[in-house]
Amino acid sequence: EAEAAKHMSTSHITNVAHRGASGYAPEHTMLSYELGDVMHGDYVEIDLQMTKDGKLIAMHDETVNRTTNGSGRVKDLTLADIKKLDAGSWFNKQYPERARSVYVGLRVPTLSEIFKKLGPTKKYYIETKSPDVYPGMEEELLRLMNKYHISKETTLIQSFSKESLLKVKRLDPDVKLVQLLSYKKTAVMTDEQLAELKTYAMGIGPNFTYLTKEYVQKVRTAGLAIHPYTVNEVADMTRLIEWGVTGMFTNYPNRLHSVLQAN
Ligand code: G3P
Ligand code: CA
Repeated sequence: EAEAAKHMSTSHITNVAHRGASGYAPEHTMLSYELGDVMHGDYVEIDLQMTKDGKLIAMHDETVNRTTNGSGRVKDLTLADIKKLDAGSWFNKQYPERARSVYVGLRVPTLSEIFKKLGPTKKYYIETKSPDVYPGMEEELLRLMNKYHISKETTLIQSFSKESLLKVKRLDPDVKLVQLLSYKKTAVMTDEQLAELKTYAMGIGPNFTYLTKEYVQKVRTAGLAIHPYTVNEVADMTRLIEWGVTGMFTNYPNRLHSVLQAN
């Protein structure tokens, strides 16, 4: 279990390109994912939504409104509808200093296209979003992982929904799971919670803002990986590494890479 050991090691901090290198390119586009690789991301993070006709696509929101020139709910649109949309121009308008003409007209990728393009050896960190809205999304995710021979040794499936993670585990006990958590005040982890998490997850992904050194060390001592999100500033990266996190999600994988090189 070399890969599992890596997640627990302090000598290797996992660099997760959050929505790709989404600080530099429109999130969840092939260009953003490829830039994540160029910028030394170990993993590419992919949020999943499902179309009206049951196709998994990479998108953060339940609607196409923010990240395309269209409008409406993903669940009410077919893949053909979504493929007509421009998923890059919004970025140029919102971040004129990072605008590039190649972003104009980028398309929303399907999970199949991503697997085909990035291949079976790429490390994927895939989130089941709104699983209650999309019955069957876990089955479809596993079907595509099998179809494209995606490694279960390296792939991590993440969700805020414990039910969704347990469903994945029931369908395929080999898939590695990460429980996402969201805190609105100082994060506290009880022994009972840790014991429960350990029954199904290899690690947790909490928002970083309210973490403490004590929390990070407690999770580590229990043998769980901890990958906070979304860490974009060097000072925060440095502090979290000192506290003992085993990786993190960042929109700027090149920044995290520099911090790790310097350490
Ligand atoms: O998956 C880690 C982090 O991305 C969770 O928050 O809203 O960015 O998907 P969100
Ligand atoms: Ca996510």
